[in-house]
Amino acid sequence: MTLADTRLHISSPLLLLTYGEQERKFAIISTVKDHSDRDPSMTTTTADATDNISAHGQKSQVWDIFVRLFHWALVFFIGFAWWTGEQGGEWMQWHMRCGYAVLGLVIFRLLWGFAGSFYARFRQFIYSPKTTLQYLGSLLQRKEPVYAGHNPLGGWAVVLLLLLCAFQAGSGLFANDDIFTEGPLVHLVGYDLSIEITKWHKTMFNVLLAVIAVHVVGVIYHQRFRKEPLLQGMITGQKPVAEAVDLATAEQATKSPARLIVTGLIVIAVSVAAVWGLLSL
Ligand code: HEM
Ligand code: HEM
Repeated sequence: MTLADTRLHISSPLLLLTYGEQERKFAIISTVKDHSDRDPSMTTTTADATDNISAHGQKSQVWDIFVRLFHWALVFFIGFAWWTGEQGGEWMQWHMRCGYAVLGLVIFRLLWGFAGSFYARFRQFIYSPKTTLQYLGSLLQRKEPVYAGHNPLGGWAVVLLLLLCAFQAGSGLFANDDIFTEGPLVHLVGYDLSIEITKWHKTMFNVLLAVIAVHVVGVIYHQRFRKEPLLQGMITGQKPVAEAVDLATAEQATKSPARLIVTGLIVIAVSVAAVWGLLSL
């Protein structure tokens, strides 16, 4: 029997037997349908999935180097911006530099969501409200399926985190501390609006902190109670994918590393130029 003969369409009942557990059915079907509605090339078959698992063993490369560097740089610069913001005075110069770095990182991640590797792309991890609610339902019963990339709730959390980081760094550009620190774009909005934006800059930081706390609790939950090594995944890029419902086909997953690096460097250059351009407005 050839490989082509063994290929099963996603709707085949045999697929469900492959995964066994009842509660995973909806996720496999709705996840793949979700994506195939948008892009037929993203339809995953059992044979593709099996190819992928056997080709990569139990672990697969999920997060490319740019996603990982982006993540830990974001953690560092948000933390340092918080600390320097609290110190005030001379430290405000560093606070502003951290803010520019965060701005660049967010622009990078937005572009990488279109140009990056399979699991980095928005179309891979942004799920419909229906799938997200179904995932939430299964999570409440502690029967949620395993995802290689971001799960449906995690995907929306990523969007929220990026928006909040963008707001934080973006609003900083128009902020002033009424003493000697002024964002580089204050001249575009005038003093009164700048004071108003500064209030939002401070208030929304608390919202960002709350969402980060939920994010970290979510990671700890998967790590401790579901025994999914997410943290190791964000460090090494590799995650066990044998049970995942959102596997990339071999074709989708493999990309020339050289091409990825060149694309990444171009996207970094564009992001730096974008920040530069913004600051010169
Ligand atoms: C300033 C604080 C943080 C921010 C703004 C943040 C933001 C993010 C974002 C945007 C992503 C998505 C990555 C991508 O697709 O590009 C992510 C994923 C992730 N973060 Fe964080 N993060 C923060 C802190 C942390 C900390 C402290 C940990 C460690 C406990 C952590 C662990 C992870 C992990 C494991 C993932 C991958 C989740 C998965 O496998 O689906 N994050 N984070
Ligand atoms: C994502 C990055 C950023 C974070 C997390 C952040 C966070 C904060 C926080 C927590 C404060 C309040 C400190 C306090 O308790 O007084 C603050 C104040 C401030 N931030 Fe940011 N900020 C960021 C980016 C920026 C940027 C890019 C600028 C300007 C270029 C900026 C300009 C200011 C100014 C002028 C204040 C002083 C407000 C005052 O004390 O009245 N921030 N920031």
